Amino acid sequence: MQKNQYIGVFDSGIGGISIWKEIVQLLPLESTIYLADSKHAPYGGKSQEEITQLCIKNTEILLQLGAKIIVVACNTATTNAIDYLRANYNVPFIGIEPAIKPAALQSKNKSIGILATKGTLNSRLFSTTSQRYTKEIDTIEVIGTGLVPLIEQGKIDSDETKKLLINYLAPMIEANIDYLVLGCSHYPFLLPILKELLPKQVTIIDSGEAVAKQTRAILEQEKTIKTEALQPVKHHIYSNNVIDVLEAIIIRFRESGHIPQKTAIEVS
Ligand code: SIN
Repeated sequence: MQKNQYIGVFDSGIGGISIWKEIVQLLPLESTIYLADSKHAPYGGKSQEEITQLCIKNTEILLQLGAKIIVVACNTATTNAIDYLRANYNVPFIGIEPAIKPAALQSKNKSIGILATKGTLNSRLFSTTSQRYTKEIDTIEVIGTGLVPLIEQGKIDSDETKKLLINYLAPMIEANIDYLVLGCSHYPFLLPILKELLPKQVTIIDSGEAVAKQTRAILEQEKTIKTEALQPVKHHIYSNNVIDVLEAIIIRFRESGHIPQKTAIEVS
């Protein structure tokens, strides 16, 4: 692979594909490499030291494969390790943080829900952001224990997943939230069930589009954005675990028109 040609993306598993899809849509001339560290999912219950070590490994693989920018498409990894990565590697990093600010600013009920992993909710970056924007807002924070492993197994529409969500959403519905922030890149896969379980007034915010726009802005700033289709666009998706769920998601994205039919995507 050619050096400095790719947008590198990594996540603790398949969740970051929800972010990758937005990047592919917004930057159609760019090739990408996606690394799903599913073998070590979930990151959410691990210590900051463990999460940082896994992020270092992912970063080094992506740099070796020719990444010119790295998107940390995992909230837990961003909130726990992005400062370390930025300080130690000479490549731009884009992180994904829960969209607390837009939710807090737009909430009419002054009540918002945040569904995230333990690692994200307990991180310093999360508590600083939260304190800054939610002073006059009721914030119902819920740890989505068990959701990431179910999504990794492809049990997105299962009764088990639904049962967990009913429990996690109950205190939020009780508190009359009008915004739900998805603080984990795996959770956008749950959008259809979330919409079914939440009252109609609740707006769900995920960060995919914002991350894609930020990636474009940084590539423009660094003058490394592709402006002409000099080489064919390619996407490589690597997983260190079984790939059937990933393959099924890519087929679904193609069928729904989220990814152009002819785009070359290799999943291995
Ligand atoms: C996890 O691996 O526990 C979830 C990833 C995330 O926080 O986005």
